[in-house]
Amino acid sequence: MNLHALIIGGSRGIGLALVETLLADPAWSRVTAAARHAESAPGLDALAAIHTPRLHRLNLDVSDERSLQAAAARVASVDPALHLLINTAGLLHDDGLRPERRLAEVTADNLLRSYAVNAVGPILIAKHFHPLLAHGERAVLANLSARVGSIGDNRLGGWYAYRAAKAAQNQLTRTVSIELARRAPKLITVALHPGTVATDLSKPFSGNVAGDKLFTPAYAAERLLAVIAGLSTESNGRFYAWDGAEIPW
Ligand SMILES: NC(=O)c1ccc[n+]([C@@H]2O[C@H](COP(=O)([O-])OP(=O)(O)OC[C@H]3O[C@@H](n4cnc5c(N)ncnc54)[C@H](OP(=O)(O)O)[C@@H]3O)[C@@H](O)[C@H]2O)c1
Repeated sequence: MNLHALIIGGSRGIGLALVETLLADPAWSRVTAAARHAESAPGLDALAAIHTPRLHRLNLDVSDERSLQAAAARVASVDPALHLLINTAGLLHDDGLRPERRLAEVTADNLLRSYAVNAVGPILIAKHFHPLLAHGERAVLANLSARVGSIGDNRLGGWYAYRAAKAAQNQLTRTVSIELARRAPKLITVALHPGTVATDLSKPFSGNVAGDKLFTPAYAAERLLAVIAGLSTESNGRFYAWDGAEIPW
């Protein structure tokens, strides 16, 4: 059987490690890595040197619906069946965006920027890519969320935009999981928390994290793929951590 995986956010961080781990498994005949800069990402250059032609690269922007629509058409033209789509694209900080420590730091602009990537992106990905996952065989659509997006687990406060955008992502993931399972009973849609992982996203905030609590991207990728391998149709619409434990919404 030809198995095809698509990792959105596959140019760096956890997504790149997922691409590398999947390519090491010959069961995956095609692995597509997508991101804004996938076609020029140094980490993917290194993998391409070893794994061409199984590795495909695709530039897309999850905050731009036309870009997602065009990307889905390109993927479908190469291979109309996907067995795994993991969306790792996420935004916590950048040049103009810092997680808020207090209410006074909240701005409409930053709330909306975070929503565009962390919440709107995932549901538009589902909208444009789900036909490739609805083929009658087992398939998984996984959105990387974050434990801080759990409302029930929120004890520290702060990080308004990121928390709220991940909570919105969780609700959208749960909502689409119900609709997609009606149309494609073997399609499993979940939200996943990768743990705290040493990447560009966590770097400014991981200084106080104990060494054994700060995962390498390779370890997080291995754990997430183990969780995905263990999912059944009963898992549809749920939120799991890297160790397989369910997280409250
Ligand atoms: N690291 C952690 O400790 C941690 C903890 C909990 C949850 N998470 C979640 O896990 C996911 C992956 O995190 P990470 O640490 O691997 O992040 P990262 O190192 O910053 O990587 C983010 C990836 O997303 C891509 N990306 C960002 N914006 C995009 C856009 N608009 N369109 C398309 N691709 C975009 C980036 O590539 P380009 O720049 O080339 O577009 C990159 O490949 C995120 O959703 C994050 O919220 C991470």
